[in-house]
Amino acid sequence: MKGLVLSGGQGTRLRPITHTSAKQLIPVANKPVLFYGLEAIRDAGITDVGIIVGDTWKEIQEETGDGSRWGLNITYIRQEAPLGLAHAVLTAEEYIGGDPFIMYLGDNIIKDGIKDLVDEFRARGPNSQILLVRVPNPSQFGVAELEGGKVVRLEEKPKKPKSDLALVGVYMFDAAIFEAAKAIKPSWRNELEITDAIQWLIDHGYEVVPHLVTGWWKDTGKLEDMLEANRLILDTIGERVEGDVDDASTIQFKVVIEKGALIRNSVIRGPAIIGAGTSIRNAYVGPFTSIHAGCRVENVEIQHSIVCENAVIEDLPSQRTFRIEDSLIGRNVEIRRTDQKPKAHRFLLGDSSKVELL
Ligand code: DAU
Repeated sequence: MKGLVLSGGQGTRLRPITHTSAKQLIPVANKPVLFYGLEAIRDAGITDVGIIVGDTWKEIQEETGDGSRWGLNITYIRQEAPLGLAHAVLTAEEYIGGDPFIMYLGDNIIKDGIKDLVDEFRARGPNSQILLVRVPNPSQFGVAELEGGKVVRLEEKPKKPKSDLALVGVYMFDAAIFEAAKAIKPSWRNELEITDAIQWLIDHGYEVVPHLVTGWWKDTGKLEDMLEANRLILDTIGERVEGDVDDASTIQFKVVIEKGALIRNSVIRGPAIIGAGTSIRNAYVGPFTSIHAGCRVENVEIQHSIVCENAVIEDLPSQRTFRIEDSLIGRNVEIRRTDQKPKAHRFLLGDSSKVELL
């Protein structure tokens, strides 16, 4: 069995970060989202993995490498444009070469992994196995209708969903999916939808088996989902203090402080992670915060946020409560107070940036 991880696409809902970076590389608990999927595939006993890449191929390839660090054998497959998940499948046809495969969307995280599901698929051998989860907002996903435990209908992001069963971004297929993907037409958003291809399988008498996921699953396509995934993962990563923490600092609850991090006169209240080479001074880092490597955080209060590599946040106003919350701060971003006249807020923001001031 092979793995196919989809890491192309555009990430429009996470702009401006995705103007300059692949959404699958945004860190959750200081690790790219994509790596959670690769680890889940490895843990399911699959070693040959194709990664579909688009315009951000270079960055993904540089960060991910040949897969040897996970014992994986990774092949990169270039998709000419993000023309849909079924189009991505067709792009990989030669690589898959008739083997059954698991398709994993590179921005999805499933906490309990996929080993049991892959074992189930291998043992039962249907043409496809799909994962479903009950959600409060089904119209944002592919939605499945079941009758007597069988999948009868699938619809991509329906305005009026007929059930609350969303399609999780993990699918198992045999070679029949190629016939289906070739038979369907592009949708209203001009994509070859995997949902339509699976519906084609159902309509043509192929066996499509549903599996209800009960543990948590996240599609990290939007900021609030990214922060939620960060929260859920931080809660599971345990405690480890390998950095240099002075006596004036307090570390509370579950905190990981990587080697080479420097904590001075600060309170770090977990769950939180502080990356290697980051310095935190006179700061409060509150629950559910990930601060990546090489950052400087001084005279600042921050919580429930993700800070990417080499960001600098310093000297934010102390005369009134000023706390950073619910934020995703990109690589090399600088946020600081200044005494420069005239007294004003000064911004140098990329397209689609969002700033909310008190
Ligand atoms: O996350 C689950 C949902 O994923 C399902 O419920 C939907 O049925 C399914 O269509 C998909 O919806 P999204 O709108 O979230 O898909 P998105 O465009 O975000 O693409 C998912 C991943 O696949 C993402 O990592 C980018 C990659 N991708 C996407 C397209 C359209 C590609 O590699 N190539 C593509 O052509």
